[in-house]
Amino acid sequence: MSSILPRKNEEYGSKEYWDQRYSQESDDASFDWFKSYDDVADIMRSIIPNKDARILMLGCGNSKLSEEMYDDGYKNIVNTDYSGILIEKMRQRHEQARPEMEWHEMDIRDIVFDADSFDVAIDKGTMDAMMTTKGDVWDPPQEVIDNCSREVNEVLRVLRKSGGVFIYITFGQPHFRRRYLTRPGTTLEVREMGEAFHYYMYILRTG
Ligand SMILES: C[S@@+](CC[C@H](N)C(=O)[O-])C[C@H]1O[C@@H](n2cnc3c(N)ncnc32)[C@H](O)[C@@H]1O
Repeated sequence: MSSILPRKNEEYGSKEYWDQRYSQESDDASFDWFKSYDDVADIMRSIIPNKDARILMLGCGNSKLSEEMYDDGYKNIVNTDYSGILIEKMRQRHEQARPEMEWHEMDIRDIVFDADSFDVAIDKGTMDAMMTTKGDVWDPPQEVIDNCSREVNEVLRVLRKSGGVFIYITFGQPHFRRRYLTRPGTTLEVREMGEAFHYYMYILRTG
């Protein structure tokens, strides 16, 4: 676990916090929020049977999820994070061993890729970071609603309109997350994981 913790929970929602954290961490540091690929590999393989699928990783951080998926055969992974410092470190770390993986400094509320250009999008803990703004979790501030809605709008724009899948892994219970993931023309499945502490996998499929 990283020792660079924010003074206040809402700092998880600021780019400055992440830039500072990643610039202070060693170049080979890595940390996986909630779940590692091992924990979800069987489910992922069943949801993404095609190893050539084009996959968009939203807020990749320095998690090992992308590299472990790559080593499992998913070569077509496009990683994004709004921390340019992090993206540069990750590019350098992986460019030799995993040359087909891409790294882009990008805000997931404003994705620059073309419509209908990805089969899969994955968010593990990134929407959660945008929800840490101070306020009532039962009645989130408009800023949180706007940020999360923008992410989901962008994901649904870049996903293929038929057979596209958005996988969101979070500790957030359905009551707090469904509102962002309920869209016309899509279907939502929720899987619960873990024993003592529960995590959730939300699987949003396009038509
Ligand atoms: C809680 S960490 C999760 C990292 C990684 N997905 C994992 O599972 O370990 C959130 C990450 O999302 C990034 N992030 C937060 N908001 C973002 C946004 N609006 N656009 C792009 N990246 C964002 C942060 O820089 C950070 O790397």
